[in-house]
Amino acid sequence: MEIVKTPSDLKRLRKSMQGSVGFVPTMGALHKGHLSLIERSIKENDTTIVSIFVNPTQFLPGEDFEKYPRRYEADKKICELAGVDILFMPEVKDIYFEDEVKVKAPDVLGYVLEGHFRPGHFDGVLHIVNKLLHIASPDRAYFGKKDAQQLFLIQQMVRDHFMDVEIVSCEIVREPDGLALSSRNVYLDPDERQKAQLLSKSLKKAAKMVQMGEKNSQKIKAQMEEILQPIKVEYIEIVDRNFKRLDTIEVGNSIILVAAYVGDTRLIDNIWI
Ligand code: PAJ
Repeated sequence: MEIVKTPSDLKRLRKSMQGSVGFVPTMGALHKGHLSLIERSIKENDTTIVSIFVNPTQFLPGEDFEKYPRRYEADKKICELAGVDILFMPEVKDIYFEDEVKVKAPDVLGYVLEGHFRPGHFDGVLHIVNKLLHIASPDRAYFGKKDAQQLFLIQQMVRDHFMDVEIVSCEIVREPDGLALSSRNVYLDPDERQKAQLLSKSLKKAAKMVQMGEKNSQKIKAQMEEILQPIKVEYIEIVDRNFKRLDTIEVGNSIILVAAYVGDTRLIDNIWI
């Protein structure tokens, strides 16, 4: 595995690559969720590039940018063992310039749900993903459904900017008790870890209700609220695959989303119905 530090070095290497290139952008502190994207890329491409970059522009003031877990040595080992070809680990100074041309999230869908509670977050995400896609220039790029709205907006950016990359969406990887894997789970103390499973539990209950024939979003949300009572819910929402709110579940075209604080830790989860 080759470790590359600068955009210009990665671009040079990229030009010499033969065959298809898969790319997995991450912020590191790698877990089995990240690994599932990496393994899929390795299976589907001749070369796999993984990036680790804790992107400052997607964190809002007061969020956890400073304390976000940085585990570079462990991450290198995980990538090496998985069979990653190139690990791109740039520094902020090599990625960002002063007074930049910026990519901005769409006015409506970039500012609802996650974008409402974290205004400007998706501007930062799209800005960095745009840069990374230009640097790595992959045939395919892999993203998790765990961050459903992020995945949707990246697909939209690729469409709107006529970018030549296939966005591959990957299933959510969970702990045995249902908790979706996240780099932020390390913040949870044992009591919070216990409560954190309520997110997936509420989503499972929602899926069960749909299976039993309930299609009314209000009724499903009310049940979820009850399950989530012990934690501080930020939103429960049911949208279609284009992130438009749904009053009635459409099987095959719905996503149920939840965001909640467990202690000081903000967690998100969702289920595709
Ligand atoms: P990060 O949170 O490190 O996640 C990197 C990728 O892993 C994202 O596509 C995310 O959806 C996926 N992922 C995380 N947890 C997952 C899980 N439990 N199952 C499946 N996939 C999972 O998302 C980001 O970084 C950043 O916003 C980034 C896109 C890298 C831009 O900075």
